[in-house]
Amino acid sequence: MCGIIGYTPAETNQGVIDVILDGLSGLEYRGYDSAGVAIADSSVSVFKREGELSELESAVPRDSLDGDAGIGHTRWSTHGPPTDANAHPHTDCHGTVAVAHNGIIENYRALRAELEAAGHEFDSATDTEVIPHLIEIALEQGADAETAFRRAIGQLEGSYAVVAVFSGLEGVYAARHQSPLVVGVGEDGYHIASDVPAFLEHTDRVIYLQDGQFATICPSGVEVTDERGSIVETSVETIAWEPEDAGKSGYGHYMQKEINEQPRAIRDCIRGRLSDLDGTVSIDELGGVGRPSAVHFVACGTSYHASLYAARLFRDRGVPAMAFHASEYDADAVPLDNEALVVGVTQSGETADTLSALRGANRAGAETLSVTNVVGSSASREADHVMYIRAGPEISVAATKTFASQQVALAMLSDALTDASSRGSVEALRALPDQIQSILDDSRARESADTYADADAYFFIGRGYGAPVALEGALKMKEITYKHAEGFPAGELKHGPLALVNERTPVVAVVSGESKSEKMLGNVKEVEARGAPVIAVTDSAGEVQSDVDDILRVPQTKPRFMPILANVQLQLLSYWTAHRLGRSIDKPRNLAKSVTVE
Ligand code: G6P
Repeated sequence: MCGIIGYTPAETNQGVIDVILDGLSGLEYRGYDSAGVAIADSSVSVFKREGELSELESAVPRDSLDGDAGIGHTRWSTHGPPTDANAHPHTDCHGTVAVAHNGIIENYRALRAELEAAGHEFDSATDTEVIPHLIEIALEQGADAETAFRRAIGQLEGSYAVVAVFSGLEGVYAARHQSPLVVGVGEDGYHIASDVPAFLEHTDRVIYLQDGQFATICPSGVEVTDERGSIVETSVETIAWEPEDAGKSGYGHYMQKEINEQPRAIRDCIRGRLSDLDGTVSIDELGGVGRPSAVHFVACGTSYHASLYAARLFRDRGVPAMAFHASEYDADAVPLDNEALVVGVTQSGETADTLSALRGANRAGAETLSVTNVVGSSASREADHVMYIRAGPEISVAATKTFASQQVALAMLSDALTDASSRGSVEALRALPDQIQSILDDSRARESADTYADADAYFFIGRGYGAPVALEGALKMKEITYKHAEGFPAGELKHGPLALVNERTPVVAVVSGESKSEKMLGNVKEVEARGAPVIAVTDSAGEVQSDVDDILRVPQTKPRFMPILANVQLQLLSYWTAHRLGRSIDKPRNLAKSVTVE
């Protein structure tokens, strides 16, 4: 999982290196352990550095470096540790061609052995480096650059998005198979990248490439071809994102900005999908999908927690539903009839485990649906149907607004597919953005974070609809604070975790909606008896107030929408704890936003 970018300016414009470096900063969420650029002129100049993009920026002589075309790469290591040598781009033996790659080349060992036997020398431990050497061979056989590129790509097995530049040529050559690649059609030049934030400040006009397609961008235009080299007619789409959507807009971190964007994200998510008059939900993209006989959700990380929530929503509507970790899903082991639905929930639409689970479900003959944030993503094409959550770009590695939008989208999905909506439910959905805004305006999470920032560990508990959000609260806390944090259905505490509870382990209890039951209050008492401080996320004043140490308030809503509100307080608690501890909030160690390896 990495970010790649390419750019060719229109004739009168230069500044290739600036466009590439600035673009890479919009892709850092895809990986940030090393980065590199290659600029093509009469020769190819390559600069690569281990570490964050700032290391590369200080190594590149921006003022004296320019050319006709450039490529860049920001890396999250898979083959070989993050070092200068393993950073992309990689070159052939003569430095004629430079290549950057996102994905995994499964047959690279065999290719490398053949290339080494033929005398090619390798500088890195990466799978990617075979590509420039394969291109080199084709060039030596007399092929032109495009043919050589195509011939090399034709020998690869696995997943890839690849960009290449050649000495003395103005174009960037690109190919994709199971890794994302999108062309940006600008007035000052043509861009190609793993994702739109890389060039959003230059253009909002895009062409999404499909698996098996090749693209060449050069000063005069873009040409897209298929595997056989035939021209493919493409349409240029205008995307709805604004340039500032991909910037911090004055917030300290992308995560803080994205938490604060949740009212707008939810407004966008529900837009055009609710009818106030008859209290119905309709999701245009779903066309003829009817009430399913059963639903399997497959997802990873935060999306898995949204799936646990969604499965409960469907069960409450009388539809058998389960959530699976995508990496553990075996579509053949849990037979589905032809009215069952398998739903892949994935913000990025590129998570390898989720894509693989969806493919398994397709093979098993199930109807499939992707619920994703990224238009044109792999998940949107792998499934029979796609529903977009419309959260806008999320840059911080820790998912926040996309989780909120997933919850709302999945709540609407359960209503739409089971015909179970009502005017009250539509009203409650419409109220959510303002309710979240009120939490953002009045939250005391920063004070609680400061009080407990030196804790040994944090536990998060909830019941019913409050259980998945407790798991998500703990995931957020561990991702960005590096503190030990665990989430449990509250009833499970006494079956083990209680042994760890003491006065240095705050317990965050979701005591709202149905989670406000006597049983839940009993669980709160259990941890208090062991000396643990309790922070309650609650819509209630009376009975909870006297029993806990800190209160984080949420407005009242229908029980099934409660986790959408409670989660905002949990996000803020983690954010401010990480802030207090001085952590790298947007780019936590060892993690990446888009995990494109299984
Ligand atoms: C990574 C990210 C998580 C995310 C998970 C699933 O682990 O760090 O924040 O929840 O991938 O990503 P997806 O794009 O499929 O929702």
